[in-house]
Amino acid sequence: MEKEKNKVIEVKDLCKTYFMAGGLKQEVLKHISFSINQGEFVSIMGHSGSGKSTLMNILGCLDRPTSGHYELNGLEVADKTDEQLAHIRGKEIGFVFQNFNLLMKRTIADNVSLPLIYADVGAGERYDRAVQMLERVGLKGYEDRLPSQISGGMQQRVAIARALINNPVLIFADEPTGNLDSKTSDEIMALFTDLNKQGITIVLVTHEEDVAEYAKRLILIHDGKVGFDGTLAQYKKESK
Ligand SMILES: Nc1ncnc2c1ncn2[C@@H]1O[C@H](COP(=O)(O)OP(=O)(O)OP(=O)(O)O)[C@@H](O)[C@H]1O
Ligand SMILES: [Mg+2]
Repeated sequence: MEKEKNKVIEVKDLCKTYFMAGGLKQEVLKHISFSINQGEFVSIMGHSGSGKSTLMNILGCLDRPTSGHYELNGLEVADKTDEQLAHIRGKEIGFVFQNFNLLMKRTIADNVSLPLIYADVGAGERYDRAVQMLERVGLKGYEDRLPSQISGGMQQRVAIARALINNPVLIFADEPTGNLDSKTSDEIMALFTDLNKQGITIVLVTHEEDVAEYAKRLILIHDGKVGFDGTLAQYKKESK
């Protein structure tokens, strides 16, 4: 019998409702269920406002569901304190965002090694590890520049190096190519593909089919629910 693969993410009946002033509320995620195994490369698509970022924030332990279950590496996230969640985020998860989120006045090495400050790593080792990570994303020699002195695509590579610095098992990327031209997008997606081949599980939100094409699996969020879960090729066939 084939050995069951390790589940990294399992969500069951996950709901998220935003409660706003004046008693207004908005149900954004409605009973979402799926699981993701270690080593998968998954893209999440859906219309603007369908709840993709809301879902990513919950999966990344930046926010909590209103109800339902979320197990990360077999541990129920709802049972964890905020402090424990911060610890899990720092140790297991790397984040990449659309607007790179770099500190513009700090050097590239400082940006990449920032997560290590919270892990109490000394300055010398932080620098060395930043240099190693920059090499991994093709930016050897750029460690002492400022973000304003490199291109957008390079800035996103720096953000990816920062996401990698704690050797995460999982990377969440919310529209990582949203601010890049198509050639640079392809380069960034090739880098994610490479990292996935090295065993890192990748979950990526995108609006573009070209970008989703790089992932092996597509989860479509429609009206707060899972509208499709399978390969992009299957999806294209079905939606013809
Ligand atoms: N903090 C919040 N408080 C109240 N409503 C929110 C909050 N965050 C998101 N929403 C609402 O939830 C819905 C889903 O938002 P979300 O950002 O998850 O969408 P999205 O699929 O990521 O969209 P986009 O493709 O534009 O990034 C939207 O209607 C949004 O207005
Ligand atoms: Mg979004």
